[in-house]
Amino acid sequence: MIDKSVIQTRLERAREGLSDAGADAVVCFPSSNMYYLSGFDDEPMERHLFLFVTPETELFVVPEMYDAQITDESPIADIRTWGDGEDPTALLETVGSELEIESGRLLVDDRMWALFTQDLRATFPEVSFGLASEVLDRLRIRKDETELEMLREAARLSDTVSEAIRALGADAIGMTERELADEVEKRLAAAGGDGVSFETVVGSGPNGARPHHRHGERTIESGDPVVLDFGTRYEGYPGDQTRTVVFEGEPPDTFREVHEAVLDAHNAGIEAVNPGVEAREVDRAAREVLENRGYGNAFIHRTGHGVGLDVHEPPYLTSENDRKLESGMVCSVEPGIYLEGEFGVRIEDLVVVTESGCERLNDSPRTWRPLDRSNH
Ligand code: CO
Repeated sequence: MIDKSVIQTRLERAREGLSDAGADAVVCFPSSNMYYLSGFDDEPMERHLFLFVTPETELFVVPEMYDAQITDESPIADIRTWGDGEDPTALLETVGSELEIESGRLLVDDRMWALFTQDLRATFPEVSFGLASEVLDRLRIRKDETELEMLREAARLSDTVSEAIRALGADAIGMTERELADEVEKRLAAAGGDGVSFETVVGSGPNGARPHHRHGERTIESGDPVVLDFGTRYEGYPGDQTRTVVFEGEPPDTFREVHEAVLDAHNAGIEAVNPGVEAREVDRAAREVLENRGYGNAFIHRTGHGVGLDVHEPPYLTSENDRKLESGMVCSVEPGIYLEGEFGVRIEDLVVVTESGCERLNDSPRTWRPLDRSNH
């Protein structure tokens, strides 16, 4: 269970945010927001399961069958239950009047299903609605020490598996992308991870030119550049790193030059990560390197994204975002070059912004050559 004092601190900060936002309550649905504020999370489902946080207090509204589980997993003691087969509306109305939110402003979890936002609208017709991110983004964007420890460990486990996979060398030739992805995921679980951060990307040959190609039935051939983008979660926090490798054989003619350009852009982006710097300046630094080498048009996405309980969250490193980076923010730096019909190259590390610059969370070699098998 997350330390009670950590949850208390987060709740206090959420309350301050509520008064700044002129809102009366935040209501969370099973999501990273609920986990962040309570230590409890579950898959979203069709049953009403809410966490209300007001300036004075906090309480759960949950199906009875969750009572014991939440008591175990969350330090929040006020748990109101409704029985399976009952209509939870009566309980919601009671809670609404007790919390005095029936005519106020309610911030709903951004990821709450429309089914439930519609239901809240019907139950509280006088309430005006906003999004929980108004208050919670500001809190979650800077990671506390507990969160940084988890993110460091998730990065370390992901790096270990990345190195082992890249040491397969010629053994990877003849495997399908799917088989290699299965191997990655098996090793992530064995390393101690608790579930993949997202579906593993194995983009071989021309498939690598599609940034979000996951994995398919294509067989990896000698000389194929292969984009490997994956990570494991640790205590809920995700790893996310990318390397591009040629397991065996001679890569396409332009590959060396492309890989070098991406690596230089990656390093330039990381160099630019400093407190007080606008997010778009990091994007500019990376993008400029690729433009100068004639690959500006082949870099078809933003330079990076924040990482926390959600693998994509603010701050987004886009060409427009003028948000200033602050210590404790964690983001990816992942420029790429995508040559449709040929291959793709992407290199990604996570960094945490520090008081004086940044610290890389990933530290595995950034070479495209297979790694030395003897170390793995
Ligand atoms: Co990423």
